[in-house]
Amino acid sequence: MSFTSLIETANLQLRRVPAWPAYPLAFGYVGWLVWLGATGGLGVEPVVALQRALGEAALYLLIAGLAVTPLRRHAGLNLLKFRRALGLSCFIFVVAHFLAWAVLDLQSLGRVWADIVKRPYITVGMAGFALLIPLALTSNNWSIRHLGARWRQLHRLTYAAALLGAVHYIMLVKGFQMRPLIFLAVILILLLLRLRPGRLAMRFQRG
Ligand code: HEM
Repeated sequence: MSFTSLIETANLQLRRVPAWPAYPLAFGYVGWLVWLGATGGLGVEPVVALQRALGEAALYLLIAGLAVTPLRRHAGLNLLKFRRALGLSCFIFVVAHFLAWAVLDLQSLGRVWADIVKRPYITVGMAGFALLIPLALTSNNWSIRHLGARWRQLHRLTYAAALLGAVHYIMLVKGFQMRPLIFLAVILILLLLRLRPGRLAMRFQRG
C-alpha cells in the first residue's frame, strides 16, 4: 500500500470517528487522577503529581492541536474535525491544573495573586492560561460565524499559549532537563512548518 492510499484510507476511517468522546475522556481522566491522589495512588506528594500530570496532558493536547494543520498540509492527513475537541480538552486540563494549584496547593485565594506576581514561572503559566480563555470561549460555531476572519486571527493566540506553556515548564524544572526542551523544540518545529515561504516572500516584497 502506497503512502497516499494509506492516508486516504485513514481519512475515510477517521470520518466515522466522533470527536465528542474527547470531553468525557478528559473529564474522566481528571476525575481518575483526583481519585488516585485522594486514595494514595499518586505517591507521597499527590498534589504535585496531580499538577504535573494535568500540566503535561494540557501541553500534549496543545501540541496535538498545533499539529493538525501541518499534518494536513504536509501529509494529507485530515484531523480538522478533532481540532476543537483537542483545544477544549486542553482547556479542561489547564483549568484543572490551575485549580489543583490554587485550591489544593495554596489553599487560599489571597495567595493566588501573591504567587502569580512573585514566581516568574507562575506568571508565565498564568499568561498562557489567560490566552487560552478567549480561545475556549470562541470555540463554537456561533463565534466562528460572527467573528469571520477575526476568528482565525484570534486563534493564532494558540501559538503564544503553547510557547508560554513550554517556557513555563522549562522555568520550573530544577537543573538541566531534556524533557521540557523537547516540548519546546516540538512546538517550534510545528510553528515553523506552518510558515508558508511563498506568502512570506510576497509580504516582504510588498514591504
Ligand atoms: C498554558 C498553560 C499551562 C501549561 C501548558 C502548563 C504545563 C505545565 C507542565 C508541563 C508542568 C510540569 C509537569 C512536570 O513536571 O512533568 C507544569 C507544572 C506546574 N504548573 Fe503549569 N501549565 C500551565 C499553566 C499553569 C498555571 C496557570 C499555573 C498556576 C497559576 C501553573 C502552575 C504550575 C505549577 C505550580 C507546576 C509545578 C508542579 C510541581 O512540580 O511542583 N501552570 N505545568
